[in-house]
Amino acid sequence: MLEVKLFGIRFENPLILASGVVDMTPELLRRAHNEGAGGVVTKSIGKEPRKGYDNPTIVELPYGLINAMGLPNPGWEAFLNEFIDERFDFPVIVSIFGGTPEEFAFLAEKLEPVADAFELNLSCPHAKGYGMEIGQDPKNVYEVVKAVKDVTDKPVIAKLTPNVNDITKLGLAAERGGADGVSAINTVKAIAIDIYAKRPILSNKVGGYSGPGIKPIALRAVYDLAKVLDIPVIGIGGITSWRDAVEFLLAGASALQIGTAVYLRGFKVFKEISNGIIEYLKEEGFSSIRDIIGLALKV
Ligand code: FUM
Repeated sequence: MLEVKLFGIRFENPLILASGVVDMTPELLRRAHNEGAGGVVTKSIGKEPRKGYDNPTIVELPYGLINAMGLPNPGWEAFLNEFIDERFDFPVIVSIFGGTPEEFAFLAEKLEPVADAFELNLSCPHAKGYGMEIGQDPKNVYEVVKAVKDVTDKPVIAKLTPNVNDITKLGLAAERGGADGVSAINTVKAIAIDIYAKRPILSNKVGGYSGPGIKPIALRAVYDLAKVLDIPVIGIGGITSWRDAVEFLLAGASALQIGTAVYLRGFKVFKEISNGIIEYLKEEGFSSIRDIIGLALKV
């Protein structure tokens, strides 16, 4: 009932662990799957090891989190060594980031042996020279996607930033570059201030807002993208309950990523959301999740 096939890959359900959330080791990825994720995205991997920013890197707010981790990762070589002998019985999407199309292509070539698909981080809202600094410009999105598609046959998903005037321009550029899908959205650029210290709380000052507070923004982005794209849209942004998940599916998402809800409530959210979707489908008389994707686009 929940199975979906995206870019030729079978996912036993459409709920995918988002990049950067309890995904540091192969064991954690397996645990996410054992506890109900249909697939996983790894943390974002770059060319060189990065320690990330100093603490504090996360601020909890009533409706979500602001984080600025600083793309901490072991670098492609250590990541490859850690994953090369691992076998997974679920799809593993490798997230990569670079400062140029060539860097993205280099990483895709090197990491192809351990990736079922790639997600291109064109959207981290605060890392100098990376993420959104590149991904806010449709021309760059096109060039990065094309460069990666030129070196790999693995499916390529562009993860888009909401910090632009019109996210559909980024989605269309990704599609023109040959992307197999897009994921929307990454976090919303944000800040929190300590009123007694009278300074920004995060060491990086600015971070990315995620969680329930951004859900309506993410839902609108998915809705707009699904209207204009022929490639699948993976919805992400504040999905916490099965009702949220159903809204994203009706708005045209073919699969969903869950991050902040896992951080705040643990892996149990995958089964809670799957069970809720199954009940909803039965009550509404649908036999497959595929039957409800994009229904809200038709009115
Ligand atoms: O701080 C970080 O590593 C965040 C990355 C992202 O939002 O893509």
